[in-house]
Amino acid sequence: MAFKPAVWPRKLRSTKWYSGTSRDSIYHRGWLKNQGYPDDLFDGRPVIGILNTWSDLTPCNGHLRELAEKVKAGVWESGGFPVEVPVFSVSENTFRPTAMMFRNLAALSIEEQIRGQPIDGTVLLVGCDKTTPSLLMAAASTDLPTIVVTGGPMLNGWFQGKAVGAGTHLWQFSELVKAGKMTQEAFLKAESAVTRSSGTCNTMGTSSTMASMAEALGMALSGNAAIPAVDSRRRTIAQLSGRRIVQMVKDDLKPSDIMTRSAFENAIRTNGAIGGSTNAVIHLLALAGRVGIDLTLDDWDRCGRDVATIVNLLPSGQYLMEEFYYAGGLPVVLKSLGKAGLLHRDEITASGSSIWNEVKDVINYNPDVILSIEKAITQQGGIAVVKGNLAPQGAIIKPSAASKKLLTHRGRAVVFEDIDDYKRRINDDALDIDKNCVMVLKNCGPKGYPGMPEVGNMGLPPKLLQQGITDMVRISDARMSGTAYGTVVLHTAPEAATGGPIAVVRNGDMIELDVPNRRLQLDISDTELATRLVQWQPQHEHALSGYAWLHQQHVQGADTGADFDFLNGCRGAAVARDSH
Ligand code: FES
Repeated sequence: MAFKPAVWPRKLRSTKWYSGTSRDSIYHRGWLKNQGYPDDLFDGRPVIGILNTWSDLTPCNGHLRELAEKVKAGVWESGGFPVEVPVFSVSENTFRPTAMMFRNLAALSIEEQIRGQPIDGTVLLVGCDKTTPSLLMAAASTDLPTIVVTGGPMLNGWFQGKAVGAGTHLWQFSELVKAGKMTQEAFLKAESAVTRSSGTCNTMGTSSTMASMAEALGMALSGNAAIPAVDSRRRTIAQLSGRRIVQMVKDDLKPSDIMTRSAFENAIRTNGAIGGSTNAVIHLLALAGRVGIDLTLDDWDRCGRDVATIVNLLPSGQYLMEEFYYAGGLPVVLKSLGKAGLLHRDEITASGSSIWNEVKDVINYNPDVILSIEKAITQQGGIAVVKGNLAPQGAIIKPSAASKKLLTHRGRAVVFEDIDDYKRRINDDALDIDKNCVMVLKNCGPKGYPGMPEVGNMGLPPKLLQQGITDMVRISDARMSGTAYGTVVLHTAPEAATGGPIAVVRNGDMIELDVPNRRLQLDISDTELATRLVQWQPQHEHALSGYAWLHQQHVQGADTGADFDFLNGCRGAAVARDSH
């Protein structure tokens, strides 16, 4: 923790807009004064941009305007000047063709919103899956002092007397309907029960995972990730974060000071301990690229390999975020990692203190929810990275959400050329498939779909569900929802649309998955594979204009985080040209 606070007072970047007696400074102050701000607010105090991803169409973040008011109160209390700025809000449950296609666009637009405006530090008001990484990426690229406040998870859903989780139970109910074990009428009733309060998904899905990643990286105040959206303590932490960001600006405590390589290793191990979403892989790789840290898939495998999954939450375990919070939340997990020698204890956090200092005295109030390492869900948590001739640049699998017996498996490929092909044929009783087959889905990667949708956990054929089959090996270049589960190999790279080996898998080929030995192999000869690759022709046309064109031209592979090639690295907050 080598950080040394900057000297205060000093001139901040916002003074370029608001200080002095020039025509331009009068212009900038005057316009803002039409909101009723008095003269003394333009005395060089930190201007804090509260970047708000509230939107009626991002219901998971629907309560963030209320939280913004608490952040503002905190900023005022500490002598800052809060300005609330609406930013591009990517809703997981609304955006088509897939929210992931817009993560980079949001990050790009928000980076420019920060850089082009009189902002000295930012509070990121986020929650739904892509909102957290997109704003973190923008903050990393501009490198102004930043603190994350997530909206918090929704309360437990309750249906037919049982606690149910957002996402996970919808997938389960959908399979039960297909298997004839649940009526469509009951499924419709579940719709209002599963997501019954403000907040993000209440499982350890992508939103809760990314909130945990932000906290483990040190970018949020300790305890932020798990506080339910409607709990008064969510509003309290928003206010405290507003207070804190003012001091972070005075100290010049920046994302690059906090998000070091060691901080990323802390986050990767945390992901293993919480049984976190596979989406964290792609987001953290992209985020590290923005900070200029050479994080790789191999780091994920290396750091996550010996981490036990101790958080007993859906989809890997049993409980929901509400219980996780009552048990003590992420600080208890970080303490456990620290005691096991799996935490870089000295990493500085947004609080200004080390991560270990923040968590060393916390108590686990429910050892059924946050397990001891001896009673872990699995001793081999984390994300496994498998490689082989089918995935030369790697593919990932979440062992804690998979069926143990399928982690080593050899089966006959049943190939779907794309998601439309899958939808056309999956319900067909004539589909030549049995429980030992390996389902392969192509052309769902970053360029292919485009946007890499969450379809990798493709539902099983109804005829097998009706036989009581609940899991099969599935392989794709797609992602899957953080609330999903199964023996699902994802992010296969290179993707099919760029001519990766997955593009040339044929029906009837044998595929071998060996997670313990980190192998994914297509059982054909090298010569046969080379011949098929030479003969391969792209299957899909590329967009010729608009954002889809930009995305397809510049998105990189899943193995490096699927960021745009021209957005790697930190560009800082300096404005290139100043017209005023
Ligand atoms: Fe928005 Fe899950 S869909 S948090």
